[in-house]
Amino acid sequence: MRDGIAHARCVFLGIALRVGGPAASIPGPVFESLRSRFFRKPTLIPGGANVPEGEARSHRVELPDGSSLGILISRVDGRLRALDSLCPHAGGRISQGPLAGGVEAVCPLHLMYFNVKDGCERTDSCAPARVIRIRERGGDAAVWA
Ligand code: FES
Repeated sequence: MRDGIAHARCVFLGIALRVGGPAASIPGPVFESLRSRFFRKPTLIPGGANVPEGEARSHRVELPDGSSLGILISRVDGRLRALDSLCPHAGGRISQGPLAGGVEAVCPLHLMYFNVKDGCERTDSCAPARVIRIRERGGDAAVWA
């Protein structure tokens, strides 16, 4: 769902920038912020797509601003999925827990179950985990973190 909304925003902004409509009236810093948000390049994780169906792997991604982010990459229904490793409940590490039923990442701190497809917690008792956009490129994984 989030990917769809992000894609729609991207298409809209792309069209707006090409025709020079709204972009012409956007102040420079705002324009740069929008441009970097919608047109930023992914970070490539070499071998990151080598995840068997129903399993998960923990990775640390170096971001363009010099910081890093822990993510959990899994494969469900043949498709790569990625979650931010930081648990939205109380800051535990989702990537340190098992993948229950091949589709739910378990935070080991308080045993909450997050669906790797949409980040939602099984009982909706806390905010969803952040879903990271990911695409498979050969054996590598491209992530927009
Ligand atoms: S910190 Fe993850 S379940 Fe509480």
